[in-house]
Amino acid sequence: MANLSNPVMSSSALVEPRPLRVGLLGFGTVGEGTYRMLLDNAESVAAKAGIPLVVQRVGVRDTQKPRSAPSGLFTSDLQSVVDDPEVDIVVEVIGGIDPAVALVERALANKKPVVTANKEMIAKVGHRLVNQAHKNGLDLHFEAAVGGGIPVIQALKHQLAGNDVPRMLGILNGTSNYILTKMSETGAPFDEVLAEAQGLGYAEADPTNDVDGFDTLYKIAILAGIVYGGPADLDQIHREGIRHLDAREFDYARILGYTIRLLGVAEECGPRRVRLRVHPTMVKNDHPLAGVRDVFNALWFHGDFVGDLMFSGRGAGADPTASAVVGDLIDVARNYNLQGSGSAIPYGQSLAMEPMETVESRYYVRLNVLDRPNTLGRIATAFGEHEVGLAEMEMHVVGPDEGEIAFLTHISKEGDFVRSLTAIEELPVVNMVAAWMRVEG
Ligand SMILES: NC(=O)c1ccc[n+]([C@@H]2O[C@H](COP(=O)([O-])OP(=O)(O)OC[C@H]3O[C@@H](n4cnc5c(N)ncnc54)[C@H](OP(=O)(O)O)[C@@H]3O)[C@@H](O)[C@H]2O)c1
Repeated sequence: MANLSNPVMSSSALVEPRPLRVGLLGFGTVGEGTYRMLLDNAESVAAKAGIPLVVQRVGVRDTQKPRSAPSGLFTSDLQSVVDDPEVDIVVEVIGGIDPAVALVERALANKKPVVTANKEMIAKVGHRLVNQAHKNGLDLHFEAAVGGGIPVIQALKHQLAGNDVPRMLGILNGTSNYILTKMSETGAPFDEVLAEAQGLGYAEADPTNDVDGFDTLYKIAILAGIVYGGPADLDQIHREGIRHLDAREFDYARILGYTIRLLGVAEECGPRRVRLRVHPTMVKNDHPLAGVRDVFNALWFHGDFVGDLMFSGRGAGADPTASAVVGDLIDVARNYNLQGSGSAIPYGQSLAMEPMETVESRYYVRLNVLDRPNTLGRIATAFGEHEVGLAEMEMHVVGPDEGEIAFLTHISKEGDFVRSLTAIEELPVVNMVAAWMRVEG
């Protein structure tokens, strides 16, 4: 039960409900979008929430910046927003850990429900905040933290919760998906496409979070937390980004009928035992994730009863993200009306994490080799000695005495595959293992 003074005194039409007052922390891309949606769609939001929602105060860093809202709303004293008795609900869209976590904790201590879009905060300390919210009978919603406007969290938390979930695969970062789509379709190198994405506003000046896989890691950890019922140790999630990808891999992917995507992968290995990983992956062209292009995001999900599902849509941007934040606000407002809390996810103990050695996957590998009569035989033998079966192969001459061979394997254990590469790299007919990648489909 919500331990709150309810602004709606009666469900009778005789009592005009006073609005539910929102304290907005942050007025950047998401904060401004949320403010605009609450204004533009005020009537339908009030009808669906059962109560009007108004922005009461807004906390920002710089109160002198020109804004699209009345200047009287703004303050740089963010604590005063969460402490304000005239603020009923807090929306945290500042981002990062400091001061966001302390402000959310304080809002919950002040018995105010919270909506946030902050993936880093939820991935790192979400279980603690959710438990604090539960103790106080409050909602803490974070739909916008994963997949922007795509309603995956509510779906996983509620409608799909009865399923056991052997696997989930996500394209969860629009910036890297845009870069991979362009590299694949134009043949341009990573640095050139990154610069173009920065010019278009699809990538930040410091793109580390996006292209090195941190953003995807936070999001797959959040999804796994909901589906498997406990927080994941972020340090035990395998993470590879996309900076190192060479244009050759896109050429071979095309020839072999695949495309390259940065995937967040969650696999159940036993009760409360999971393997989480983030890495570029060759995805077969007929897999639904291969068709997810540009800045779009998607989550492919297999549930034991529901079967295969895919959610896709815009994973970022002011409007789609505002859609998720306002959806959460409406949910909070409904619970507020009904004096209940709908955010209950039973976060249990931390999930046990399986090492990468135990991954079972198909693999792509590109080798630079010497052009000798026994080259292929020696390589095939080395794979075979490590239980790695070969499924497809492409060979090209790249110099007078040099060749390049790309293989696709059958399903193998990652430990076996990596050991086979170590053995292959030592063969006198092999110059180097130029690249390798996991394969889906
Ligand atoms: N952008 C997206 O498409 C998107 C999508 C999904 C989720 N998210 C998440 O939403 C959150 C917000 O992202 P955003 O893109 O809206 O960020 P943003 O455009 O950088 O805006 C951040 C806002 O927070 C304020 N702020 C930041 N640090 C502050 C501090 N220490 N004290 C006071 N105010 C502070 C800024 O104030 P000033 O205006 O004065 O600088 C600004 O208004 C992040 O957690 C992000 O991961 C974003």
